[in-house]
Order: sequence, then C-alpha cells, then structure tokens
Amino acid sequence: MAIKILAIESSCDDTAASVIVDGKIKSNVVANQAIHNMYGGVVPEVASRAHQINIIPTIDTALKKAEVDKKDLDAIAVVSGPGLMGSLIVGVTFAKTLALTLDIPLIEINHHQAHAMALFIDEPKPRFPLLAMTVSGGHTQISIMRDYNDIEVIGRTLDDAAGEAFDKTGKLLGLDYPAGPIIDRYSKKGSAIFEFPEPKVKDLDFSFSGLKTAILYFVQKKKKENPDFVKENIYNICASVQDRIVSILMNKLVKAAKMAGIREVAIAGGVSANSGLREALVDKGKQLGWNTYIPKFEYCTDNAAMVAITAHYKYLDKKFADLSLTPKPRYSL
Ligand code: KG4
Ligand code: ZN
Repeated sequence: MAIKILAIESSCDDTAASVIVDGKIKSNVVANQAIHNMYGGVVPEVASRAHQINIIPTIDTALKKAEVDKKDLDAIAVVSGPGLMGSLIVGVTFAKTLALTLDIPLIEINHHQAHAMALFIDEPKPRFPLLAMTVSGGHTQISIMRDYNDIEVIGRTLDDAAGEAFDKTGKLLGLDYPAGPIIDRYSKKGSAIFEFPEPKVKDLDFSFSGLKTAILYFVQKKKKENPDFVKENIYNICASVQDRIVSILMNKLVKAAKMAGIREVAIAGGVSANSGLREALVDKGKQLGWNTYIPKFEYCTDNAAMVAITAHYKYLDKKFADLSLTPKPRYSL
C-alpha cells in the first residue's frame, strides 16, 4: 500500500500544506500573507490570525489537488519549530487534532531539516555525506547530512540570518519587505562598485549585523553629500550588498567543504532563490570539482513539500511524535 502523508507548515507567515504519496509530491499549496508587506516585516499576531483563516482552505486544496481523501492518509506531519509561537500553535494544534480524529501517527518536523530535505524532492538527488547550507529569513547554517535523519550543524549565524541581512538592508534603502527578491532584481541592473566589509568571524560561523551597520553609515555619509544618492545609485548599491552577502556565504561554504572533505555541496532556504548565490555556487562547484544542488525555486522559500519529503523518511524510520507535542519556537537541530 502506498504511504500517504499530509504535511503542514505554519512557522512564520506562510500557511502551507502538501500531500506526498510514496515519496512523490502530489500537491504543494502555499497561502502567502501579503498583509505584512505594509508593516515592513512579519507581525506575529497578524500572522497567527491569518494562519487560522487560511489553514482549512489550504489543507482542503492540497488534498483535492492530490486527489487524496483524508480518510486514506497514513500520517500527519507538522513543523513544530523553530518559528513564531502564535504561528506554530495553529499548525501544531490542527495537526494533532487531525491525527487524533483519523487515528493515525503524528510526525514532528524541524523547519531547518525540512529546508535541507527540499534537496531530495527532485532528481538528481544528492549523495551522502552532503554539505548543505540553509539560508533564509530566520536561519543561516551549514550542516553535514550523513543521512536523511542524521544531520550535524557545523556553522551558524551569531546574529542576523542572511535573509534578514537582505531585508534589513533593503529597509535602510527604502525598499519594500521582503527586500531579498527586490535586491536580487535590482542587482542585475547595477555593478558591485561599492566595497562593504567582510566580517571577521571564526570557524564556520556567520555574522551579518556589522554589514547592516556599515551600510547604514555608508548611506548616511553619502546622503550628506547628495540627498538623492540612494535614489541615483540604487542598482549599484544593491549589486554591492548582494555581492558581499554572497561572498560571506560562499567563503564559509568553501572553508566547510575543505574542512569536511565533502564534494556534494548544496544550498537551500529562501535565500537560495538568489540568482547571485545560485551562480556563485555553480561557478565554485566547477572550479573545485563539486557536485552542486539547489532546490527548485518553489521549494526554496517556505513551503510544505519540504516538510512532506522529510516526513516520508521519518515515516520509513518510524519516527513518530506523541500527541502531547507542543510548539518549539527555538527548536534547533
Ligand atoms: O525560507 P523563507 O521563505 O522563510 C524563512 O524560513 O525565513 O525565506 C525568506 C527569506 C526572506 O528574507 C527573503 O528576503 C529571502 O528569503 N529571499 C531572497 C530571495 N528570495 C527570497 N533573498 C535574496 N534573493 C532572493 N531572490
Ligand atoms: Zn524557512
């Protein structure tokens, strides 16, 4: 009998559901919450309320698209963290209720692991051991994946995540939230002519807060000389910001690959949608003889297909959660 799992993701501002049958994604539905754009960032209380409104239609649509009846499901998977408490609680409560009423197992998923597992949705699948750098609005880390459920984190950010670096810099430049995709677009029209410092952080850890401050001072200084500086130079500033964020990420990834002696190298998470980072990974891969992997665009930013694929392998390993499961806003791997 085929294994059919419904996966739910509600850790931040996207309500998402996906159905996976025997390891193949049958549906992947994401309800975005555009309402946060007007606040310049995610407002937790607003996110929680929107999840409550969106969760039933999102799950219904995912089941319908997959042509799977909920009575035929074998398990319910849900992200329990890390994330916003008020957001997580909606998905976790819903998943527990469904598992209880359908009398099927509940599978707990870590959001970081799910981002990395997005690499295993499509062919060609990476081989183990894999070096995976997950970069998004909430996390930046480098891990060695020895198996689907065997992950060792070897580097992480000490302050902001890479996506936050894009978004907060964008805010300083007067761009809308989330600024990552806008900076990406604008970079293509400019050149990286401004030099921003590379932070000195030991080992494989990252820091992005210094970069944000450096850009703030740079913009303030330039505006004193010319109040229209940002407007007139926005494309070049964006290209310079992106260039530096990408080089910070890639330098650590190269260091990690050398230290670990691994040539299967991947990026995942929202920031892996960035064209500069994608190109840099492919170029480095060619230069250093790596096999490189990047999830399909729709599996980079938050989605439930990545949760579903993680759940499939947890189901095979019989890693089930108790119905007393509660959200873990600070759940680290
Ligand atoms: O994975 P994700 O959807 O949510 C979190 O788990 O945080 O990532 C969202 C982050 C945001 O910071 C957004 O600005 C960034 O990913 N992002 C990008 C691009 N697309 C999304 N950053 C740079 N370039 C992009 N093309
Ligand atoms: Zn995420």
